[in-house]
Amino acid sequence: MINKAIILAGGMGTRMSPLTKAVNKQLLPIYDKPLIFYPLSILMLAKIKDILIIVNKGQLSQYKKILPDGKRLGINISFKEQISPRGLPDAFLLGEKFIDNKNVALILGDNFFYGQNLTSKLINCTKLKNGAKIILHKVAKPESFGVAKTSKNGKILSIKEKPKKFFSDLAITGLYFFDKKVVEYSKMLKPSFRNELEITDLLKIYLRKKKLTSDILGRGGAWLDTGSIEDFYKTSSFVSAIENRQGFKIGCLEEIAFNNKWIGKKEILNAIQFYGKCDYTNYLKKLI
Ligand code: TTP
Repeated sequence: MINKAIILAGGMGTRMSPLTKAVNKQLLPIYDKPLIFYPLSILMLAKIKDILIIVNKGQLSQYKKILPDGKRLGINISFKEQISPRGLPDAFLLGEKFIDNKNVALILGDNFFYGQNLTSKLINCTKLKNGAKIILHKVAKPESFGVAKTSKNGKILSIKEKPKKFFSDLAITGLYFFDKKVVEYSKMLKPSFRNELEITDLLKIYLRKKKLTSDILGRGGAWLDTGSIEDFYKTSSFVSAIENRQGFKIGCLEEIAFNNKWIGKKEILNAIQFYGKCDYTNYLKKLI
């Protein structure tokens, strides 16, 4: 079972400079909410209540303005600073105490997921007992991603980082589920030529042990990586189109907490006070 998760929300956000010079990328808006709401909402849909958010140096006070702790949402949120972006598996070194020898999920702070049956898929992934599970999604330009080849039952046969020649069009998304060995394995990793610990190297350890499986986010689902300004803008348009057409919000944290019965009417009223007069508040009012 997986009851804990880490959101990796540090990084330099170089591709989005100058926007990211003063503000962490995950605090910038995707349409009507800060980006961090979206990965957090994914974990909450997976019914994960114990969450560590890793942020870059100097941004902690900004984060605490928008997500003080988890109480308002009926969850537990803690923070840890990453002094410099040492790579994705650094999450498991920084988070060792938080992980406390338990299974753990990792989501990248700039990844956006949306789609039919997503919640049941996520809950299914949290049932992982041992090994690791990754979420794959078909992409048009596999050469820009880490990609995987799978067997019929979802076992990973091989993975490659940004292959120049066609290898597979199933990209490895930024949502991972690991057993408790992940800390021990992360400690074995050596920095790559770009001086970062690489998630592909970590996944390859599980692969060599034949313990790497996958689930596919099908064509009814969307996965968007919001790393560049263009992707950021496209994701905002996507959220705006769906929200305005259908009248419900994507990534409304209070709504998910309320539906999960983690909070009640009182907490929604507090949230309304906290956000003040805005469209988000009007939406919360409708919930109760
Ligand atoms: P990246 O997109 O690799 O890095 P970045 O967000 O800093 O952007 P850029 O490449 O433009 O400099 O990171 C993916 C996500 O993981 C992003 O949300 C930041 C986060 N991250 C960390 O928190 N710590 C790290 O050491 C790394 C490498 C990434």
